[in-house]
This record gives sequence, C-alpha cells and structure tokens, in this order.
Amino acid sequence: MQANHCFKDLTLMISDVIDQVGLDDTQHGKRVGYMAWQCADHLEIEGFTAEDLLVAGLLHDIGVSSSREHELLVTLMDWEKSSFHCAEGVKLLENLPFYHKYIDVVRYHHTHWDKLQPLPISNSSKQAASLIFLMDRVDALLFQYLAQNPDDEAIHAREFIHTNLSQLDGFFYPPLVEAFVKASTIDAFWFNLEKSHLSRYLQHLDFEKSITLDLVSTEAVALILAAAVDAKSPFTAEHSLNVGALAYYIAKQLELDEARCQQLKIAGYLHDIGKLHIPDNILEKEGPLNAKETVAMHRHGFEAQDILERVTSFKEIALWACQHHEFLDGSGYPYQLKGDQIPFESRILTIADIFQALAQKRPYRDSMPVNQVMQILTELAEQGKIDTQIMAFVQDHQQQCWQLATA
Ligand SMILES: [Fe+2]
Ligand SMILES: [Fe+2]
Ligand SMILES: [Fe+2]
Repeated sequence: MQANHCFKDLTLMISDVIDQVGLDDTQHGKRVGYMAWQCADHLEIEGFTAEDLLVAGLLHDIGVSSSREHELLVTLMDWEKSSFHCAEGVKLLENLPFYHKYIDVVRYHHTHWDKLQPLPISNSSKQAASLIFLMDRVDALLFQYLAQNPDDEAIHAREFIHTNLSQLDGFFYPPLVEAFVKASTIDAFWFNLEKSHLSRYLQHLDFEKSITLDLVSTEAVALILAAAVDAKSPFTAEHSLNVGALAYYIAKQLELDEARCQQLKIAGYLHDIGKLHIPDNILEKEGPLNAKETVAMHRHGFEAQDILERVTSFKEIALWACQHHEFLDGSGYPYQLKGDQIPFESRILTIADIFQALAQKRPYRDSMPVNQVMQILTELAEQGKIDTQIMAFVQDHQQQCWQLATA
C-alpha cells in the first residue's frame, strides 16, 4: 500500500462513520465542526486554528455508537450519562497520534464551563472543549426547532437558538456565545448547514495538516472504526476482529503477499462497517426480517464501500468489504456479481465471515461445533456459491480456523 497524505480524506471518512450512527439526524458532527470553523473568525483560541476546531467538531462524538444514545444526545439539553461517550471517544483517539491534540476537547465536550475552569488542562483546550459543547447544543436546539416546525428553514431557528442559549447560565465560556451570535447573523451560515451543501462545503476546504498513512496507521484507524461497529450491537461483538484474523490466516497460508494479507485483515475489521446505518432494532431482531428490514440489512456492503473508498489507501479494502456477501453463482448482494467478477480476496473474506458468524456464540444460540460449520460451508461450496479451492484449505485446517474464529 502506498503511503500518502490524507489527513482531510481520513478525517472526513471517520466523520462519515460517526455520522452514520444518527439515523434521522445525520451529519451532526459535520454541522458542529462547520459551525466551530465559522466561529473561529470571531474568536481566538491560542494554539487551535480554525482547522483544528473543525476537526475537533467532526470527531467529537466518535465515542457514540448506538442510535439510541445519539437520539438522547440531540433531544435532551443535558443528560447525566453524556460523559460515557466522551470517555469512549478518548479511548479511541489515543491510538492515533495525529489526533492527540483533540483528546481533551473530546473528553470535556459536555462539561459545563463552571466545572471546566478548575480542571488541570490548558486554557486553550478548555475553550476549545467549551466551543464544541456550545456548537453541539446549538445543533441539538436546531434539531428540536425543526422537529417542531418540520416545514420551516434552519435560518428561522436563529431566534429560538439565541433565546435558549441566553437561558443556559454557566454552560459555556461567555465570549464563545458572542462569537456564535456574530457568525450566525450571516444568512449563508445557515444555508451551508443544509445537507445538500454541507458535505460539498467541507469537501472543498483545503486542510493544511498532512499525515502519512502507512499500513500501521491504517490498521489503527480500522480498529477504531471496527470498535464503533462492534460497540453498536453486542450481537456482533468481536465479529469484525475475528473475521480479520481468520481472513489474514487463510490468505497468508494460500501465499498471498504480506501487504495483501494485511489489507485483507483490515478489510475483515471493516467489512460490516455499513451496519452502522442499520437501526439497532433491526440488527438485534431475533425473528425473520420483513421485506423493508431485509433491504436495510442488505445494503451494508454497499454502504461500507461508499464510506471507505474516499481514502485512497482504502480503495481495495473498500472493494473487498463491499463484496463479502457476493456468491459465485450470482445469488449474493449488493451487485449480484458472478464467478470471475469476484476477486480472490473477496472470496476469502466471504468464507471467513460465514465461518466466524457460525462459530461465534450469540446471545440467542450457542457456538456451532466445527463439524457443523464445515457441513454448512461444504453445502455452500457444492451449490457453487463459495470458492472450492479456498474451501479445500479450510477443510484441511478447520481446527486452526476454528481457534482464530473463536479467539
Ligand atoms: Fe457528545
Ligand atoms: Fe455531539
Ligand atoms: Fe456482513
């Protein structure tokens, strides 16, 4: 994999993942980041550029991984358990050195200014955290206004938001509220917040910071994203990590080169990332899915590709992840690919995914014994759905595969 400079692409991609958690209210992080960026014209926080404030806004809710939790965050003004997702977010960012600057902002982005002041962190981090908290609450107020006035424009929420903010005593560092009031007098401030404009607006921004994303950092990012998927539903806990380990093992033993094996492991970590957009009640449903729920479930490979392919070094990972439910006879999804249209790496991932899913203990059923797993996989191979060459290897190494799948 080529190292490249991709701080912006990577940050926007992670932001897309976080935003997938909000179902009716997507783009929350983007709005918070955009508004913080706009306020930067009217305030100065030493050591934090407008770009830093934007990035902090984009990443602030990285620890939110359930749509129920997200709903609480936008519908309630203050919520006693809000510090939980802050602490989760900090744990995720600690693995990525190029985001360390934002750790205290994420940790304290729901802390009231009067509680923030005595803390032993830099003034700049306190002010940046307070700004993100303010923007976050502005977005919650905007959500509430539009929920009550569904046909109205965001710009008409201005008065409602200003009035409500003036009643929140001690919540925010006061100069930040003034900066927001100034920034929000501009009409275009509100137009850019609209869904159709916001992604394009952010995509066109130039970021100054650049990083080199090698395989090690790529894997660290993948682990963060995988944690978001796994945390969303206890039913899929550790599934992604074990699929990655199993896919790596099979690829390595079948003599793919090391870099490809590593990429395939990462694809395993990320193959179900599109599930972030599936409502919790569908993911957790025990009975059969109805037609609408099935479509929601079947689009997760497609969504994975859409999320991942924006970062150049994730292109192939995105492709394989997208194809992990394709079958050689064309009966899979989402592209109904056939035979040679499905690369060898995707075929490995498909088998690793099925193997792990069957071998994993779920709350509603026990772990399936290895002979039963092999029986199901063999039937799929006989029906022409999965690769027989890979299956021959898995057959010969079923105990090793079982151990990796259930680690
Ligand atoms: Fe938050
Ligand atoms: Fe938030
Ligand atoms: Fe899947």
